[in-house]
Amino acid sequence: MCGIVAYLGKKAAQPILIEGLKRLEYRGYDSAGVGLIQGGDIKIIKSSGRISVLEEMLDEPNSGDVLGIGHTRWATHGEPNTANAHPHLDYTGKIAVVHNGIIENYNTLKTWLISKDCKFKSDTDTEVIANLIGYLYSNTEGKDSPSDGQNRFEWAVQHALNELVGTYGLAVVCADFPDMLIGAKKGSPLILGLGDNEFVIASDASAIVEHTTQAIYLADNEMVTASSKGFHTKTIDNIEIHKELKQIEFSLDAIELNGFSHYMLKEICEQPKALKMCLGGRLDLRDGRIVLGGIGKYWREITRAKRVVINACGTAWHAGLIGEFLLEQLARINTETEYASEFRYRNPVIEDGTIVIAVSQSGETADTLAAIEQARERGATVLGIVNVVGSSIARSTDAGVYLRVGPEIGVASTKAFTAQVAVLAMLAIELGRRRHLSNESARFYIEELSKIPEKIEKVLAQSEDIKKIAEATCQRENWLFLGRGFNYPVALEGALKLKEISYIHAEGLPAAEMKHGPIALITDGMPAVFIATRCSQYEKIIGNIEEVRARGGKTIVVASEGDEDIKKYADHLITVPQVPEELQPMLTVIPLQILAYHAAVLRGHDVDKPRNLAKSVTVE
Ligand code: M6R
Repeated sequence: MCGIVAYLGKKAAQPILIEGLKRLEYRGYDSAGVGLIQGGDIKIIKSSGRISVLEEMLDEPNSGDVLGIGHTRWATHGEPNTANAHPHLDYTGKIAVVHNGIIENYNTLKTWLISKDCKFKSDTDTEVIANLIGYLYSNTEGKDSPSDGQNRFEWAVQHALNELVGTYGLAVVCADFPDMLIGAKKGSPLILGLGDNEFVIASDASAIVEHTTQAIYLADNEMVTASSKGFHTKTIDNIEIHKELKQIEFSLDAIELNGFSHYMLKEICEQPKALKMCLGGRLDLRDGRIVLGGIGKYWREITRAKRVVINACGTAWHAGLIGEFLLEQLARINTETEYASEFRYRNPVIEDGTIVIAVSQSGETADTLAAIEQARERGATVLGIVNVVGSSIARSTDAGVYLRVGPEIGVASTKAFTAQVAVLAMLAIELGRRRHLSNESARFYIEELSKIPEKIEKVLAQSEDIKKIAEATCQRENWLFLGRGFNYPVALEGALKLKEISYIHAEGLPAAEMKHGPIALITDGMPAVFIATRCSQYEKIIGNIEEVRARGGKTIVVASEGDEDIKKYADHLITVPQVPEELQPMLTVIPLQILAYHAAVLRGHDVDKPRNLAKSVTVE
């Protein structure tokens, strides 16, 4: 994915664009650029590399340049060089576009545009949009030329959008209209912030909140045209629409580092507070019930459901797998967790009585969105467990539960994971209560859930000790993460965390599977992380630890507080407070997040912007 930001107002656009791009840099960071309308021309400054590189190329801001567009890129079509960086100018030099998404029919359009003598300078799909708008803008004669009150620029954008197949969140300017900014959306997010005589268009609210908290969230196939006279919204079929003004729900403070060296560390440390927000008002300790307002109307259907299918990707998939175990264990309902990327291309069986649950932090993951469409087409009721309010997944599901953990900016997902598990636990407990679980058991789990935030504090307090473990082990290039039962998905998540930010090869496995092959990998000193808390499979996992030690592996063991017996099996020991095994993942994952964080820092990596990654994957 990429980040786009655009400004029209009374202030100099350049610093606003740069600040906005810095807020959006987590969305992509291989190249960046800005385009400013300057005296009837468009001035483009762009470069490969980070926004800091772009910043060094900029002149002092000109207070008269009040309209501009900016982009930070995660490459899809074309390598991340300067030519492929956005904004892209059309062949006439009058139109400039920044774009997040993928144009699937760009080759067909490009061939046609080349036949019309349009010149291309990049390998991107985006340049096709710029040239198509430019071509339509310069060649209106003989066509259904703009109607009254609708200028040629807006007409050309609207007509070009109708030719595009694929996804876009885009902002467009035209040199002939120094007072007009157009934005449009299909499949990629786009928000219009409405300030005091100023407009900020951006991929997400973090680039807007500094200027205004009033915003309009465009839906797919909608466009907005803003000028000093105001703004209007319509569909790309030219039907005027009224959009509701929404309040951006988080403060600037939520997206600042606040003294932390990295967003990932901030977000790890925020987990007690984040989980309190997630659980807040939802746990009815007095009556032993759980209140999830967003799905209130669907309880009858959920309670009668025969099957649940969870769809997600990456870390959210790991949370989904824990959700599967929770729903089976507490609600006794048949549940499967699917990689959304696989589910969408299969021919899945969705019988009557199937509930599909999509889990996603960003709410923009393309594969998860497509899986939802697939499920809906086959008649399933789809629920969302999403963090970003108003995101595409939140809007395309029948009902859902928000995580309420505030913005997650670090590319490695941390607080969203624990909150996803917390929401799935709430769902399982309440569904269980409505099916087979005794009121006494439901009350027990609710009380235990309410204590999780304070117990996370106790794990966080071991950060310095975990750092020492990272110092002793982070030079090793191959690791294993092993767990059983509810802690098996935690092993997968621990391995993913280490891989994505420290670039260490790590494999997560159900511990018992190790002997079926991966045990061959164990060499002298190889780190093996075991999640070996007190649970129903405790004795079994001790056996697995012994198998690794017998072959020279170094064990890093996450164990229950007060477990003296386990010390002899651990080269390095981390403890977590005791909780019922169904709820353990919310605690056992914390040391693994911290371990991955310190390992990455010690290895000198940019923790918040790991190579080749972007925060949410809006491409297939
Ligand atoms: O926004 P989503 O939760 O849908 O994102 C899914 C994955 O792309 C995401 O969890 C990814 O695996 C993270 N980088 C993991 O830290």
